[in-house]
Amino acid sequence: MTKPKEVIVYGKEYFAWPYEEQTKIKHKVISYYMTIWLSKLGKYNDTFFMDCHGGCGAYIDLSTNTVGYGSSIIVDKIATEINANRSHKNYICVCENNKKNYENLLKVWEDQSCSNLCRIRLDNFNNVIKEKRINNYYSTHPSLFLIDPFGYDLVMENMKNLMNHKGSEIIINFMYDHLNRFLSVANLDAQRDDFFGSHEWINAIGLSGRERENYLVELYKRKLKETTKAKFVFAYRLCFPDRNQTYYYLIHATNDIQGIVYMKNSFAGVNNGRLEYLGKYQNALTLFDLDNYKNEDIARNVLKKYTGKTIQFINLLEEIIEDIPFLEKDLSDAISMLEKEKKVNVRRVSSKRGRYRDKDQITFGEII
Ligand SMILES: C[S@@+](CC[C@H](N)C(=O)[O-])C[C@H]1O[C@@H](n2cnc3c(N)ncnc32)[C@H](O)[C@@H]1O
Repeated sequence: MTKPKEVIVYGKEYFAWPYEEQTKIKHKVISYYMTIWLSKLGKYNDTFFMDCHGGCGAYIDLSTNTVGYGSSIIVDKIATEINANRSHKNYICVCENNKKNYENLLKVWEDQSCSNLCRIRLDNFNNVIKEKRINNYYSTHPSLFLIDPFGYDLVMENMKNLMNHKGSEIIINFMYDHLNRFLSVANLDAQRDDFFGSHEWINAIGLSGRERENYLVELYKRKLKETTKAKFVFAYRLCFPDRNQTYYYLIHATNDIQGIVYMKNSFAGVNNGRLEYLGKYQNALTLFDLDNYKNEDIARNVLKKYTGKTIQFINLLEEIIEDIPFLEKDLSDAISMLEKEKKVNVRRVSSKRGRYRDKDQITFGEII
């Protein structure tokens, strides 16, 4: 990946990287999700945010000259606001292994009057997460890890303990474009094995286009699940802003059904209701965006799988949420459509009207 340009910020002693559209989206999603995660998990516990790849701390929108801030600064501001009237704190550890970026980040942190609950380290995150003290802390507190490298510099095995605490989650920037371009480059086999935690990436060499992409994303998700024991893993695709081509995926791992539900809502909330960012096609409406189409699609699939069975809404959601590119509300709307068509029978237990909830019991009729 090419090094981003460094732009001196007027009136400041630090530089910023050009603020690309897909980075803005990533930051918005992190802001939305962190607000929810921290509001819930930080109610009864101190929490921990580990920004494994800190970056330089500042971004600049070159068309408007507006300055935005990096992931650790965004999270610190959110935590300060949410925890203002609480006794619990959110501690932050940032790793940045490039000295220039590290020094810049320190300056931005000070300029933005961020909290003193953070330690910024000039260090390789692969080593820091193995330190005993850090490991003890994240194993005993709900922790959110943002893993956001520029390329292949990640080791699957190192993620083994990150979700030791049941409230812990990981968000990984899976740099597909970069990975794909370097997939066949000689002498990188060992690095690729470490990255995927397997040699199976080799099977992707014979594939092309979306087939190769899907294979590698599915492989990574599967290995991440095996390694971290996460209950739910979901990948959000982000295209380049100017073309219909995948730039990277944000891969989210969580143990909690509400984690995946809220992350889907967060992503959709900043992407016109979609679970992918389509760059210049972001505002174009496709068949897949129409509520009727979504409802039909979900309804057809669940009817096929569950015909003749009775299941609680929450269990149905848990069983299919990773497989459908839709939200919890879409599933509820699809069931409601089936109820009107008398293809399912719903006994409301957790809800009285509107969206179905947890223990509402759904009986799928036989397909005639
Ligand atoms: C994409 S940027 C991070 C951006 C940041 N998370 C944000 O959203 O503002 C990646 C950063 O990771 C740093 N980096 C790369 N490998 C690293 C490693 N093993 N440990 C710590 N930092 C690393 C790079 O120097 C670079 O500044």
